[in-house]
Amino acid sequence: MTAGTLRVAVVGAGRWAQVAHIPGWQRDPRVEVVALADVNEAALAEAASAFSVPRVTTDYRELLDDPGIDVIDVVTGNRPHFEVSWNALSAGKHVLCEKPVHTDYEKTRQAAELARANGLRTKLGFTFRYAPAVLYAKELIDSGFVGEPYMFNGYEQNSQWIDPATPLRQVDPDADPAHITVSSIEGYGAPIIDIMHWWLGSPLTSVVGTMRNFVPTRMIRDTGVMTRANIDDGDMWIAEFGSGALASIQSSYVTVGNYPGIEARIYGSEGAVIIRLVDEAGCCQTIRTARKDAVEFTEDDIPVRFFPPGGHSGEPWPLLFYSNLVADFATEILDGSRPGQGDFAQGALVQETINAFEASFRTRSWIGFPLSGAIPAGTP
Ligand SMILES: NC(=O)c1ccc[n+]([C@@H]2O[C@H](COP(=O)([O-])OP(=O)(O)OC[C@H]3O[C@@H](n4cnc5c(N)ncnc54)[C@H](O)[C@@H]3O)[C@@H](O)[C@H]2O)c1
Repeated sequence: MTAGTLRVAVVGAGRWAQVAHIPGWQRDPRVEVVALADVNEAALAEAASAFSVPRVTTDYRELLDDPGIDVIDVVTGNRPHFEVSWNALSAGKHVLCEKPVHTDYEKTRQAAELARANGLRTKLGFTFRYAPAVLYAKELIDSGFVGEPYMFNGYEQNSQWIDPATPLRQVDPDADPAHITVSSIEGYGAPIIDIMHWWLGSPLTSVVGTMRNFVPTRMIRDTGVMTRANIDDGDMWIAEFGSGALASIQSSYVTVGNYPGIEARIYGSEGAVIIRLVDEAGCCQTIRTARKDAVEFTEDDIPVRFFPPGGHSGEPWPLLFYSNLVADFATEILDGSRPGQGDFAQGALVQETINAFEASFRTRSWIGFPLSGAIPAGTP
């Protein structure tokens, strides 16, 4: 790494790489996107031309031995996330990976451990943690604005797949159609579960909840055929924390409303904060606050220090939020003394929470957390 410069290779050059990752990296003067990899040559050529990236390959492994690359950014579809991340960490690269690294939290924890052992930084694609409104809310919480946190309500929901004809990426061909499969809680729930843990800052002790399949038959993108898809397209969960705080989570992609559809509310002994990340009337984020002695919520301005240079709430949210995410990762790597946030260890915690939610649904019971032992289920 030359002083103050970071050279990034992006693996997976599809839609999300093109609207969020690559333009986010290129907005940062400390960063150069030096290579793209994709198994699809057409996607590769399109992205390389749109973003003037000099080097392309259909085999990402060719990039791993190159000492001229500091960061591997994994934006493939979900299946290769773990393999690419693991190989990149083994080759000594810092890794940004889209969620989930792996659907098994223990695998994600192993990757976090590998990074730690190799002195490398990791980051998960927890996009919404980096929304200026969410960063500002976290600063308010840390400064004591809400006092002792009592309750958190988190939603990630919109109507992306309320219409059965809207193609869904894929369903697991091996899944038993008699049993509902985790879908929304993993794809949509992860970012709001991340914010729940981050804002409450207390160990999770137990969870309970349920999932539903509301739209039974859907168009599947990979086959172009209407298919019975017994997947979780809506769910609700309750969580208990060591501090005594309570939380609820609702994730769904069949609930009417616009993208991205995040809402997070925290209520404490002194005040409350509500953020909404929903594209409405040309604005992608709002923050409303109230104190216990002035109970009416008012909308606050988000300080300019939480935006990338020139950024504003009217720009496309994928670019705005992702610009902050990748800039934060660049700072963590370039300034080695800064603690990491939203890294693979946090990804493992979020994935373990999802796995606990699923276990609660399967057993129709409270599940103790962490899953790996210690606290028995149902401990008050
Ligand atoms: N954090 C967020 O808010 C957010 C939002 C949207 C998508 N995503 C995630 O981003 C990822 C990509 O989503 P997308 O919408 O761009 O999908 P996409 O299908 O448009 O693009 C994925 C690309 O990866 C390529 N690819 C697959 N396997 C590969 C491999 N082994 N090596 C190299 N390239 C490979 C595919 O050819 C494709 O071009 C997914 O994991 C998705 O869940 C995250």
